[in-house]
Amino acid sequence: MKFLSAIILLTVAVAMADKDEDDWNFYKFQFGKKHSPKEEANRKRNFLARQRVMEKHNKENKDWQMGHNKFSDLSDDEKVSLLGAKPAIRRERLISREAAVPVLDRALPASIDYRTDKCMQPVKDQGQCGSCWSFATIVPLEFNSCNKTGTAVALSEQMLVDCDTGNGGCNGGMYDRAWQFIQAKGGVMKSSSYSYTSGSIGTAETCKFDSTAVGAKVASFGWVTPSLVPDPTAIMTNLQSNGPLPSGIKILDSFYSYASGVYSDPACIVDNKYDINHAVVIVGYGTTTATSTDPATPYWIVRNSWSNGWGLSGYFFMKRGVNMCNIESWAAFVKVV
Ligand SMILES: *[C@@H]1O[C@H](CO)[C@@H](O)[C@H](O)[C@H]1NC(C)=O
Repeated sequence: MKFLSAIILLTVAVAMADKDEDDWNFYKFQFGKKHSPKEEANRKRNFLARQRVMEKHNKENKDWQMGHNKFSDLSDDEKVSLLGAKPAIRRERLISREAAVPVLDRALPASIDYRTDKCMQPVKDQGQCGSCWSFATIVPLEFNSCNKTGTAVALSEQMLVDCDTGNGGCNGGMYDRAWQFIQAKGGVMKSSSYSYTSGSIGTAETCKFDSTAVGAKVASFGWVTPSLVPDPTAIMTNLQSNGPLPSGIKILDSFYSYASGVYSDPACIVDNKYDINHAVVIVGYGTTTATSTDPATPYWIVRNSWSNGWGLSGYFFMKRGVNMCNIESWAAFVKVV
């Protein structure tokens, strides 16, 4: 009997190892991963650890699902370079003041979704550079400039990474300081004249500012919630009047594997409002339809800068109304000239 159990156990273990090997090989194929023999063992270990977390999460959590993506085999150190929000400790000093909540010219709709707006550029990829802040700076400028002129425009994140010495290039920064920089510089260049290169090299390059290739200018900007007190309604109102709004969030490890659903995690509701490490852009909001088992859940539609291969074609939904990951404390708006 004992012998039989041992055989069964052994068979199961061998079958699991085979499955692990198959899953790993399929993953490498699916995401075009090529590792040196030296790297292979570590990468496989990271991948399998992630796979266990994912299987458990997807069994237990009905709100949102995890899935493999290009980050599944990364180490914790490597994941840190995918972030890059560095808020100023006393942010009020840095930003121009303006009435935070615009007066509505029409009723607040049940939902807003700018993802498919003709003024929205394709989702970009910051790569191995902590430049999320630069991407979050640019999205509302592209959108608002296009909405004003009627012509789509792609603007240069690289210019900010290279030239804005008030921010930290690939070591982090913040969109309020970047808008201030653009205002002082007389505009931000078009990406066609200054394309993004730091994603693969992981560092800033020499500044190559050229005022003749400026594509948008900053008129004014401000915080939606100047005192950091979360205000979902003010964010919804600003979305309607001022377009997409960058915000800062705290990233937990599980978030890297977000695949679909409305992201929430009790560990991401924190007392310290300054606890953020990633800049993203709120581009809309909505509410899930209630079912017999699940209540309706309000959510934000949020744009990330990890390519369109991550999450929901580059976007994610985050629970709305509970200041999840501090997202409702850091929204800011910008107006173009
Ligand atoms: C976009 O432009 C239209 C037409 O001028 C205007 O009504 C609308 O408020 C603008 N949207 C945003 C978000 O600025």
